[in-house]
Amino acid sequence: MDIIEIIKNRRSCRTFTSEELNKNDKAELEKYIKENALGLKKESIPFKIIEKEDKDIPLKINYGMIQGHKTYVLGSSLSNSDSRINYGYLMEKIVLKASEFNISSCWVGYFDPNYFKEINIKKGYEIPSILILGYAEKQSVGERLVRMTIKANKRNDWETMFFDLNTKSPLDPKQIPAYADALEMLRLSPSSGNTQPWKVFYDKEAREFHFFKKIINKRYNEMGLHEIDMGIAMAHFELTSTYKGLSGTWHKQEKKINGIPDDLHYIWTWKCAAMQG
Ligand SMILES: Cc1cc2nc3c(=O)[nH]c(=O)nc-3n(C[C@H](O)[C@H](O)[C@H](O)COP(=O)(O)O)c2cc1C
Repeated sequence: MDIIEIIKNRRSCRTFTSEELNKNDKAELEKYIKENALGLKKESIPFKIIEKEDKDIPLKINYGMIQGHKTYVLGSSLSNSDSRINYGYLMEKIVLKASEFNISSCWVGYFDPNYFKEINIKKGYEIPSILILGYAEKQSVGERLVRMTIKANKRNDWETMFFDLNTKSPLDPKQIPAYADALEMLRLSPSSGNTQPWKVFYDKEAREFHFFKKIINKRYNEMGLHEIDMGIAMAHFELTSTYKGLSGTWHKQEKKINGIPDDLHYIWTWKCAAMQG
């Protein structure tokens, strides 16, 4: 499966069989995690796969009606915006790699961090979210209800998310054929409560995509979850661009970008190395 198929097929799973991860799958995933621990600004976030046993007290999860969970991936980020973005960016790559092995997952932002004694949280660090991994069981009624309530299958339209920096008008896939898949795969990203806080402005002349965060849910934002959402979207965009042979790099724009609505918060810029198509 290529990255486009993997992204299109991925769904959050909330009903897991109580099986442990198959040894080969786990070893492959651990190898991938080790080799991909470096995020933006070369920040390293070592993630760990943690397997709880049936005799352990189960992790209480506040929302989502998640059942059968016993395997988790987590690490810690610094308690700041860029580090949480990195956490989302690196962890989503793990989500997609796991999907490649038919391992299902669910991001969880509401959980008790004290449950994980395996992770030493240093001062100034936090666990901004965790990932549950496992094999999918038939969806429970509760899971179907949660998905319906948060409209998990729906995503906002292109015109609410992607804009031409020059005209500030919505960007149409036909205007930008080479990057249409990368933006579409960004649009299909998962986000906390399916809030999709992503806004992207494309600068045709400079061949840059500027990523902004719009606060959709104040509580999620205070918990740092919108920053995780931003990192996830960046991972989808980058992996799809690279798959399409369109290389580029992330950087921070030094100058203020004019004409952007006040309620948007600048995050990162993708500079295209070569424009094709
Ligand atoms: C950072 C983050 C935190 C999340 N937290 C939870 C959670 O606490 N409980 C839950 O059931 N789902 C959680 N989700 C899953 C989202 O609800 C889900 O990704 C979204 O509704 C889109 O559905 P999909 O992943 O099936 O495409 C979280 C997702 C993200 C990205």
